Amino acid sequence: MLKLIIRGGIKLRSGLISSACLLIVAIVLAQTGFAAVTPSQQLQAAEGRSAMVVSESADGTRAGVEILKQGGNAVDAAVATALAVGITNASSCGIGGGGFMLIYLAKLHHMYALDYRETAPLKANPTMYFENGKPDEKLARDGGLAVAVPGEIAGDFAALKRFGTMNFQTVAAPAEKLADGGFALAPHLAGEIAHEVDLLKADPGMAAVFLNPDGSPHKVGDTIYEKDLAATLKNLGDDPAPKFYRGKIPAAIASFVGAHGGILSAQDFINFRPRWLDPLHRAYEGYDVFAMPPPSSGGVLLEMLGALENGHLGGLGADSPPYLARLIEVMRQGFVDRQSFADPNFVNVPAIEFLTPEHINELRDRALHHAVPANPPAAAHDHGTSNMLVVDKDGNVVALTTTINTVFGAKIMVPKLGIILNDEMDDFSVAPGVANAYHLVGAVANDIRPGKQPLSSMTPIIVLKGGLPFMTTGGSGGPTIISGVLQVALNVLASHMDAEAAVVEPRIHEQAAPDMVFVEEAMPQATRDALSKMGYRLKVVPALGAVGAITIQAGKLSGAFDPRKGGGAAGY
Ligand code: GLY
Repeated sequence: MLKLIIRGGIKLRSGLISSACLLIVAIVLAQTGFAAVTPSQQLQAAEGRSAMVVSESADGTRAGVEILKQGGNAVDAAVATALAVGITNASSCGIGGGGFMLIYLAKLHHMYALDYRETAPLKANPTMYFENGKPDEKLARDGGLAVAVPGEIAGDFAALKRFGTMNFQTVAAPAEKLADGGFALAPHLAGEIAHEVDLLKADPGMAAVFLNPDGSPHKVGDTIYEKDLAATLKNLGDDPAPKFYRGKIPAAIASFVGAHGGILSAQDFINFRPRWLDPLHRAYEGYDVFAMPPPSSGGVLLEMLGALENGHLGGLGADSPPYLARLIEVMRQGFVDRQSFADPNFVNVPAIEFLTPEHINELRDRALHHAVPANPPAAAHDHGTSNMLVVDKDGNVVALTTTINTVFGAKIMVPKLGIILNDEMDDFSVAPGVANAYHLVGAVANDIRPGKQPLSSMTPIIVLKGGLPFMTTGGSGGPTIISGVLQVALNVLASHMDAEAAVVEPRIHEQAAPDMVFVEEAMPQATRDALSKMGYRLKVVPALGAVGAITIQAGKLSGAFDPRKGGGAAGY
């Protein structure tokens, strides 16, 4: 029996979710409102015996399930989900962006890492955001100069070709249907549209899709169409990489970006290659944790986990002040080390050395002695990026995080193609010492070079126990991905929570600078008071990122999406 659960506390238990039901859901959600729903009121978990899909969009999850039910495997379903979420959560991700995919292949009992992160254009240079001798970070966020070479289609196709069982048009079909036939606007995207009305008005393509003719924002439950994007996906056929990276499409994107002050060229598309990499691995309390290598922050997460191993959490409760104090200190030091992370094709990133016992001990030492960061690298509102997780009937697992960076990327849509372009250039150090959209202060290692990938916080992970998949998690929300994935993983691995409890548990975030600990308002007041008494300066925020999870225990799959952002979890 398919069990699909949609944010807002509404459970649907049937093989067919009718559009009438979705309409009712939309109406109820419109009445409920995102802010009024606290995590503890959510019913965002699903169970299954055979397969599970979790994503930040109910329609996206349904796309993945549809593909699994047609006989596709986890890779087919993950790509279908990513393409569909790119439509329904178009402010977060899409084919104008890029991402990371961690794949566990059961038959070969092997873990693979696919990096299709965007690259800087050939004409990029370290001082490209300087004007009159001063860096102007805004240029890296909005408009043509913010755009890096999109990697999404290359990555999706590489994964399908190597491990998928279906052709591109089959997995793209649910996305094309949503884009062409319309979908009911969910609260998350409705909120982002309302937040960005002025920027959306400035771009005719965006305005036509996300705003009413009078310029007012579409509301929850309105039907949204992305017909140009549907046609683009369809025109890519079953061999999408050659079509996306050579010929008319890159020429049209480059020309549009050029007209908006950017430097992307057709040659940038020809040069783009996704990368198959060896995942990073570290044991944690008898589990094997696999993560993406740099330019992801998987290594930073493994360092933090390592420093919290060997009884360092000593059975402390997940919202107990001593537990959180340890997390804060370890997160802080992890973010200091993150300054050494960058694209390994350009910089020697000591990710492996950072995972040695000596370095982990040294990090723990720094953390436990409350060292003030020597050169501190601050949390921002961000709902860009999207994570999805799939487990199939054969035990294959995919953890995929993808992004166009900040909300609506560069805030420009390529006419006729309907592609929203990323602003991934902002993930580089615009200049040493200058903070990006996430208040992460730029380090030299992550400077801008032609063809280089910007450092990312995206951190999908897969955890094995006794050699078999035990859990997978990943999230969205800039640097809060790292702290969020860490806490959700610990909630399962150290505190033995189920997927739903692990995701809902209130979280903290510390990123070394500013000297401040971000704490969700759902964190009990007594805990907050105790942390303040310990000397921590707290900033209370409504929510920190969004993290989904699937656990696989005793033949049972449990999946949960994060009520902080919404989504869908479906298992059968
Ligand atoms: N663009 C968000 C990240 O990669 O961290």
